[in-house]
Amino acid sequence: MTGNKDHGADEALYVKSVVDASPQPGDSVADLASAALASHMDALNRLSGVGSDTANVARIYDYYLGGKDNFEVDRTVAEEVLAKNPDVRDSALANREFLGRVVHYLVSEAGVRQFIDLGSGLPTQENVHQVAQAAAADARIVYVDNDPVVLTHARAMLATNQNTLAVGADLRDPWKIVHEVRALIDFTQPIAVLAFAVLHFLSDEQAYGVVNTLVGACPPGSYLAVSHVLDTAEAQTGRAIYARRSANAGLVLRSPAEIGEFFAGLELVHPELERSPGNAPELVHLSQWRNEEDSTVVRDRFMLCGVARKLEP
Ligand SMILES: C[S@@+](CC[C@H](N)C(=O)[O-])C[C@H]1O[C@@H](n2cnc3c(N)ncnc32)[C@H](O)[C@@H]1O
Repeated sequence: MTGNKDHGADEALYVKSVVDASPQPGDSVADLASAALASHMDALNRLSGVGSDTANVARIYDYYLGGKDNFEVDRTVAEEVLAKNPDVRDSALANREFLGRVVHYLVSEAGVRQFIDLGSGLPTQENVHQVAQAAAADARIVYVDNDPVVLTHARAMLATNQNTLAVGADLRDPWKIVHEVRALIDFTQPIAVLAFAVLHFLSDEQAYGVVNTLVGACPPGSYLAVSHVLDTAEAQTGRAIYARRSANAGLVLRSPAEIGEFFAGLELVHPELERSPGNAPELVHLSQWRNEEDSTVVRDRFMLCGVARKLEP
C-alpha cells in the first residue's frame, strides 16, 4: 500500500483500460478477452499501489468467494490456505450470508437506517447497500476501506446511488473515519457499525480502538456487528502462510473472550430465532446467527460473530 499517494492518474489509467478493451476490426474474441484482461489487471495493479508480487487480503478473500478481482500471487496464497483448510471457503461464504442476515435484521427489525461498513472489501454479491436498500430505500451506507482497488470498484458501483459513499481511510485512524462519514451519517440518529472479517487484521490497540471510538461516537440505540477469525490450530496455519507469503496484512487471532471484549458494555442481540428458555445471548458461529436453516449444523468453524445494541447511559 502506498499510504497518501494520489491515485488520480492511476484511476484515469484504470478507466482507459476499460476503453482500450473496445473491439477493433480483425480482433478475435480470444485476442480481445486476453488483451482486456491484461490491460484491466495492469491498471488494477497500478491502482493498488503494490506489485503483483504482493498478496493482498482483499483480493485473497475475493478469490475464496469465487470472485475475479485477484492476481496469481493472491490465488497462490489462497490455494495454499485452502489446501490445508478447505473449509475456509465455506467460512467466507458463511460470512457473506451472515452479513446479509444482519443487515436485513438491522433494517427490518431494529429500524436502523444508517450503516458504516468498516473494511468493506471488494464488491461482491449482496453488498450492504443492496440488502439494506431492498428493505428500506432511504437507508444510507458508508463503505470504509484502505485499499485503493476496493475503493475504485466501490465508487464505480455506487456512482449513481445518492445514499451511499465510499471513504478511503485506515481503521488505525478512527477519528478520520468519524470525521469523513459525517458527509452521509447523522450521529444523532442510530447507526450500525459493521466490522466483518476485518478486526483480525489489526493489533489489540488498533482493533479495540477503532470499535470503541466509532461506537462511542454513536448514540444509544446504535448497533455493533462483528465477525472475527478464532484462534485455532487451523487459523494459526493460515496466519503462518499469510506471514511467509508477506500478505499486505497479517492475521491477529483472538479467543472467544477476546472477541467478546468488542461488545463490552453493549447488549447482545439474541442469536437464536426461537429462544430456548434460560439461554443467555452469546457469540456464535456465523451460520448459527438468526438462521432459519438448522443452526445446530455449523458449516463454518473458523469465525465467531455477534451483534449488539448500545444502551442508554
Ligand atoms: C477479508 S475482507 C472483508 C470484506 C467484508 N467486510 C466482508 O466481510 O465480506 C477485509 C477487508 O478489510 C480491509 N482492511 C484491512 N485492514 C484495513 C485497515 N487497516 N483499514 C481499512 N481497511 C482495512 C481490506 O482491504 C479488505 O477489503
